Formats: sequence, structure tokens, C-alpha cells
Amino acid sequence: MNRKTCCGLVILATLLFLPMEPTAFAQSQIGNLERGKVIFEENCMECHGRTGDGRGPVGYFLAVQPADLLSVETRKKPDSELYTIIRDGTLFDEMHGWEKILSDQDIHDVVRYIRTLAPPLPQ
Ligand code: HEC
Repeated sequence: MNRKTCCGLVILATLLFLPMEPTAFAQSQIGNLERGKVIFEENCMECHGRTGDGRGPVGYFLAVQPADLLSVETRKKPDSELYTIIRDGTLFDEMHGWEKILSDQDIHDVVRYIRTLAPPLPQ
């Protein structure tokens, strides 16, 4: 193969694979960050607070304080557990299940967003 063909092949390969990279990355993360942020701000922030620390304006008046999503306990829970809590809610407090309001994808999106507020820790 002469040099020209070789360079051409390298450029072609780069052009072919470059656009694939972001897609491959997006697929490895189920949730969509941008959408998750909007969902959190619209539905969760009033209780859990803008930063997720559980100090939202509504949360202040509740008998059971909203969970601090930045806490070690929450960060140790796997994504799947957060997903289930958000979908089904917790018993005996204001954190009702969101199954009827949010879609499966919405919940994945919001879990992904919560993970950016406080990265997961190993269990
Ligand atoms: C009306 C107030 C309120 C709203 C709105 C609310 N939550 Fe909660 N959330 C709570 C309370 C209260 C708890 C339970 C605290 C406890 O049991 O210790 C909780 C618990 C949680 C937990 C469990 C944390 C853990 O470590 O167990 C997650 C995750 C969570 N909420 C996410 C969300 C998401 C996502 C939304 C929006 C879709 C949301 N919450 C909306 C009040 C609220």
C-alpha cells in the first residue's frame, strides 16, 4: 500500500468512528442527564432541595424529612435500588411512588442526574 492510500484509510477510519463514540457512551448510561435535571427540578427539588441535600422548601414542613441524597447511605445504594424507591415510594412518609407520573425512562434519567449531584460509593 502506498503512503497516500494509507493516509486516506486512516482518515476514513477516523471519520467513520468519530461520530460513533458519543453514541456508544450514551448507550452505556441508561439515563439522559439533561432530561433528568429537568425532571428533578420539576418534581423533586421542592422537597430534596436544589443540590439534593433534602432541604427543599416543602420538605421543611414534613414530619419525615426528605432524604439527603448526598448522604453516604444514599450514595451506597445501587442505581437499581434508587430506581425502585422512586418508582414505588417509601412507606409511611411523603415520598410516594412516581410510577403513575414518571415513565420508566424518566426515572432512569432522574437517577442519572442524582448520581451527578453525589457520585455513587461502593457498598
Ligand atoms: C413531598 C416531598 C418529596 C418529593 C416531592 C420527593 N421526595 Fe423523595 N423523599 C421524600 C421523603 C420524605 C423521603 C424518605 C426519607 C426517609 O424515609 O428517611 C424520600 C426519599 C427519597 C429517596 C430514598 C433515598 C434513600 O437513600 O433511601 C430517593 C432516591 C428519593 N426520595 C428521590 C426522589 C425523586 C427522584 C423525586 C422526584 C421524582 C422525589 N424524591 C420527590 C420526600 C419527597
